[in-house]
Amino acid sequence: MTLDFFRNKKQLFDRWAASYDWLFPSVFYQAIHKRLLEYINLPPQANVLDLGCGTGRLLNRLADRFPDLHGTGLDLSTQMLRVARRSNRHHPRLIYIEGKAESLPFADGQFDAVFNTISFLHYPEPKQVFAEVARVLKEDGSFYLVDFSYSSQAEPFSRLMTTSGIRFYNKNNRELLGSACGLKCVTHHYLLGPVLLTIFTKPI
Ligand SMILES: C[S@@+](CC[C@H](N)C(=O)[O-])C[C@H]1O[C@@H](n2cnc3c(N)ncnc32)[C@H](O)[C@@H]1O
Repeated sequence: MTLDFFRNKKQLFDRWAASYDWLFPSVFYQAIHKRLLEYINLPPQANVLDLGCGTGRLLNRLADRFPDLHGTGLDLSTQMLRVARRSNRHHPRLIYIEGKAESLPFADGQFDAVFNTISFLHYPEPKQVFAEVARVLKEDGSFYLVDFSYSSQAEPFSRLMTTSGIRFYNKNNRELLGSACGLKCVTHHYLLGPVLLTIFTKPI
């Protein structure tokens, strides 16, 4: 994938960062984070990664709920990370680093859980991201993928969206992506409208 693609995405989110937490989409995203919490199961002293963490709202919420959790947020956008660091209520339990979901700067088997909310639609190399998630997860670790989905009847709408450089994945697409890199799909739940949570585990 060209450097231009990532540069353009980065610029888009850098521009959005200052207003991100105050605009309507963020209210929607935070309602999704709240619902996601109902499905999360973590071991004690969990080490978690939030991929495409944006302004860090989900990690703050997770650290509130799990007082012994340690979390890393990774994002492409310098400005999103600037807001995340400024609003970090749990430093040094939570830290933020700049990087790409396609090449994670972490050792194998490091995380008990990986979260990814409303970011996967932007990835030009979805298989590569799944492979990276599988690599950095511990055995028995979980991947919580939350993104817009579509039913088979809505497929023309989905094709329309692909022309704008974003892609949606239905249940079947997600299961195939998981099985290609050894992640087992455990369940799917609709969190809000078409926003679908899919939970994967890395088998022991
Ligand atoms: C709509 S925001 C969602 C942020 C956050 N997860 C939330 O739920 O509010 C999408 C985020 O994905 C990030 N992103 C997009 N492509 C990325 C990539 N290839 N690697 C890492 N982050 C990426 C963007 O910079 C942006 O912060």
